[in-house]
Amino acid sequence: MTDHPTKTSRPRALSGMRPTGKLHLGNYVGALQNWVKLQNTHDCFFFVADWHALTTDYDNTSQLADNTLEVVLDFLAAGLDPERCAIFVQSHVREHAELHLLFSMITPLGWLERVPSFKEQQQQMPNKDLHMYGFLGYPLLQTADILLYRPDFVPVGEDQSAHIELTREVARRFNQFYKLNDKPVFPEPQTLLTPSPKLLGTDKRKMSKSYGNSILLSDEAAAVEQKIKNSVTDRPKLTDRGSPDRCPVGNLHQIFSDKERLSHITQGCTQATITCVECKALAVESVNAHLAPIRERRHALAQNPGKVRQTIQHGAQKAIAAAEETMSAVRDAIGLLRLGAVAELAAREEATAAIKVPEAITSVKNEDERWEMRTSEWLERINRTYPLKKDRPRTFITRRGRKVGLYAAAEENETWKFLLEDRPINVLVLLAQDKDRNLRDYVLPPKILQEHWKKLARNGDGVEIVLKRGPNGISLQTGEGELAIEQYAGDYSALQ
Ligand code: TRP
Ligand code: SF4
Repeated sequence: MTDHPTKTSRPRALSGMRPTGKLHLGNYVGALQNWVKLQNTHDCFFFVADWHALTTDYDNTSQLADNTLEVVLDFLAAGLDPERCAIFVQSHVREHAELHLLFSMITPLGWLERVPSFKEQQQQMPNKDLHMYGFLGYPLLQTADILLYRPDFVPVGEDQSAHIELTREVARRFNQFYKLNDKPVFPEPQTLLTPSPKLLGTDKRKMSKSYGNSILLSDEAAAVEQKIKNSVTDRPKLTDRGSPDRCPVGNLHQIFSDKERLSHITQGCTQATITCVECKALAVESVNAHLAPIRERRHALAQNPGKVRQTIQHGAQKAIAAAEETMSAVRDAIGLLRLGAVAELAAREEATAAIKVPEAITSVKNEDERWEMRTSEWLERINRTYPLKKDRPRTFITRRGRKVGLYAAAEENETWKFLLEDRPINVLVLLAQDKDRNLRDYVLPPKILQEHWKKLARNGDGVEIVLKRGPNGISLQTGEGELAIEQYAGDYSALQ
């Protein structure tokens, strides 16, 4: 089995967005619109980075859950299809935090202090105390977000490229320290640069939620019209010449109008041959035409709230499956003790905590009774974890319907002889009682029986199996030689 069974033949792409609440057109043209295209060609994972919101807004979380839902709603309205991509919430996949922690062990502080957004954001938000551990580490959380899914591509805007570069460096460093079967655990993902066309807010500043100058993806047609009509333009006077590049309305044309209309308004604007009022009316038309199907999907979702819930639940499942694949490789590569391994150890220890056959057995002549005395304690222990249902004498059925043959024999001259019924079974359990009346159990899985059953010695009464003590423990004698069976001692995996 590979450690990567969720991988498809398509290249994998992953990206995330902070839950800023209802998305604006800048978020849409700068990212979401591109994601919608990618889901046709890539194996996509898109998530709401709710933990990232805490790195700056740790002191006000009252809107966090609502904002997260709004963003998922916008994802769906914009056309992301939960059948074609995993749409999920970061905090639902705890492995992001686990991988972040492990990366924090190998990431030099200097790498994080050097990330440009660290100083920039602190300067941009002078009233906010950002001297926090989480804030310094957030590009490393993003690194974990990405590498957890081992994607080929990360579609992001230019402002994120330093973070993807850090991601690649951390992947390289991890791979240097830890390997899994001599192979690196992480690929170095590529940035898939999303070209983000310039889009000014209605007041000519950068479009931003906090400036209150945004057109929202979820705005109704009338609201879009109001906002565009009230926009500041690049031509204060009718006779001024302007430039669509410097005008929020012009920007909207550049993004949402067809070539013909764009060249019409560009000419009209730069030559002062149209009015801004005319230009705005055309922009309203173009933007609303583009947003109409998005609005329609949003209205349909409002009628069907189960869809958002299902999307989030199903997305978490898909993401967790992929994340667990990676984390299991990561834990093994680092060399952490697996809980599953402890359970196996415990099962083996319990098995070898020798079962003692009652002393009274020496006086028992009846073969069935001897068998009962030897197997009863073993069966009782096994049944706690692997219930066996009685089928016929010496034959049991596992929970999954496997047929198990159970036989017991006492040691004589370093040899055990078992006489089996010549009927097909899937699993063979041999209980070997030694001189001190301790039992050893060998659970031979179907694979072994298929290979050797036919070759075993037969006499008139059934199939004869002989175990012999040797320098490497006990082995089984077949017509063709010895079969090592020590590895099946106390290994109950075949009894599932
Ligand atoms: N830091 C990104 C932003 O501010 C959001 C983000 C978090 C992200 N984790 C990510 C983007 C992983 C891409 C991949 O926009
Ligand atoms: Fe803006 Fe259009 Fe007026 Fe030019 S004509 S300034 S693009 S609104």
